[in-house]
Amino acid sequence: PAPVSAMQQERLLKVLVIGDLGVGKTSIITRYVHQVFSQHYRATIGVDFALRVLDWDHKTVVRLQLWDIAGQERYGHMTRVYYREAVGALVFDMTRMSTFQAVLKWKGDLDSKVALGNGRPVPAVLLANKCDQRAQGLCPKLPKLEAFCRDSGFIGWYETSAKDDTNIEAAIMCLVRSIMSLE
Ligand code: GTP
Ligand code: MG
Repeated sequence: PAPVSAMQQERLLKVLVIGDLGVGKTSIITRYVHQVFSQHYRATIGVDFALRVLDWDHKTVVRLQLWDIAGQERYGHMTRVYYREAVGALVFDMTRMSTFQAVLKWKGDLDSKVALGNGRPVPAVLLANKCDQRAQGLCPKLPKLEAFCRDSGFIGWYETSAKDDTNIEAAIMCLVRSIMSLE
């Protein structure tokens, strides 16, 4: 019989994680990849990369390359790029309204610079992060995210907490499924 490796296909998937300063992008990735959380804030400079490998099904291995893009970064310096398989995770901080207001700017940025190989916009999910702060008070003025996502072209949304490990896995799985079901 052929060795397992010869029967397995490998898919490389880029997950672009974007949003304002301090919303929790690095924490979400660190939680997803290493299962840890730190209260300590150190701003990301430029872009960091992390990798998680998923056994998708008996014949497919998915290599998830997570792009941790600094909130202080803009895509200004990037020229338009096409990835065959890329998805976007747009993050805001439920305790800071300004970070929600920036979401559409980031989405516009993403769509203007990155597209799938077929020219279509990359699937994007909205992560409403720091939902563990409910007791301390979330933004009272946040709109209904269901309608917001539908109107803004997100494929889904999740209230997440990198601190408590809420919905991080689910949000990323939603993105992976959206790409794996294309083809
Ligand atoms: P930049 O790299 O500057 O763009 O920031 P970032 O989006 O990567 O934010 P980062 O993950 O560094 O988190 C910023 C701060 O928020 C840190 O002090 C984290 O501990 C905290 N934080 C991140 N996620 C959560 C969360 O889900 N809940 C709570 N309570 N705090 C969080
Ligand atoms: Mg960061």
